[in-house]
Amino acid sequence: MVSAGPPADAGALDDPSRLAELDASGHLQHLAGLGSQLRRGYEAGRAAAGASSAAGARAIVICGMGGSGVAADVLRALYAERLPIPLLASKGYRLPAFADPDSLVVAISFSGNTEETLTAYGEAVDRGCRVVAISCGGKLARLAAADGVAHVHPPSDVPMPRMAIGDLCASLIGVLEAGGILPPAGDDVERAAGVLDALAARLAPERPSSKNPAKDLAVWIGSRTPVIWGSEGLAEAPAARFRTQVNENAKSPAFSAVLPELDHNEIEGWSAGTGPGYALVTLRHPLEHARVADRLAATLEAIAASGLESREVSAEGIEPLEILFSLVMHADFAATYLALLRGKDPTPIPVLLSLKERLAR
Ligand code: F6R
Repeated sequence: MVSAGPPADAGALDDPSRLAELDASGHLQHLAGLGSQLRRGYEAGRAAAGASSAAGARAIVICGMGGSGVAADVLRALYAERLPIPLLASKGYRLPAFADPDSLVVAISFSGNTEETLTAYGEAVDRGCRVVAISCGGKLARLAAADGVAHVHPPSDVPMPRMAIGDLCASLIGVLEAGGILPPAGDDVERAAGVLDALAARLAPERPSSKNPAKDLAVWIGSRTPVIWGSEGLAEAPAARFRTQVNENAKSPAFSAVLPELDHNEIEGWSAGTGPGYALVTLRHPLEHARVADRLAATLEAIAASGLESREVSAEGIEPLEILFSLVMHADFAATYLALLRGKDPTPIPVLLSLKERLAR
């Protein structure tokens, strides 16, 4: 069911003084810099001293949490199907049993102080894995210096880890290229950055809701709980990113799931009458598996009695990097407009930070 959804005050998003007052850290301006982040992050990763320690690895494990760990999901989405060696995203304290001196372990943490990532890093060093650390300082940078481990400092200018997604992902791409694991990605990065620069202008706060798809999407979601679906591969990480950006920016629950897996469980939950109160956003792109379009149409038909309303977001570009990051940019702007529409400052994450402080005591 596709519909206009409940009314929300679109005018609130077109009032520059109200936006500036709520968005005290300039979150929206930083989102627009995703293309620049890709360019500079990639160069930093490629140029990092010691990045070649990745060479010859037989497996890759990327350890990181939250807004840093998302880089592992992005790299998997972009390259897992093309890489001759396994690439695993590890989100927690432990390393998989197979991680050994032939494995490359990348520990990635914007702050460099995340407990789980530091623990996994220590385990990787103890096991003699090839280790690369990526952080903007913190304990991880100090440990890497003491351990003689290659360290990359992404050139970031944002106040929060999740806002550095381009810096972190592109640094990782640069490191893996320098280690001979990925083919040269410079042209792809430049093309994707160009697509993102153009998209940023279309989603920017200056553009009114009537001509701005991200504002329009946020207004359509309104007070409902977002449910985001992407298909396996390139749309999987952006779907999860949309969910976590609604969590952290709009301070609200959200759910995400992946096609075709959701056809084997979640669809049963959308039984008659369960849809109102939720808003389904599907992320679409030209490199979807050939069966996805039919499957999605059949899925929406199968759950029509739920009353769940849906809208599509289409990726820009035709290449994996353009597609994935254009979906991320769309998700980031929409989640941030949703925050502002609901009167929330998108940047601070007080609950998350107070939990970290409590556990660090
Ligand atoms: C904050 C955010 C969090 C952090 C996570 C790990 O913006 O998105 O999810 O990314 O708590 O911290 P770092 O990234 O510093 O390792």
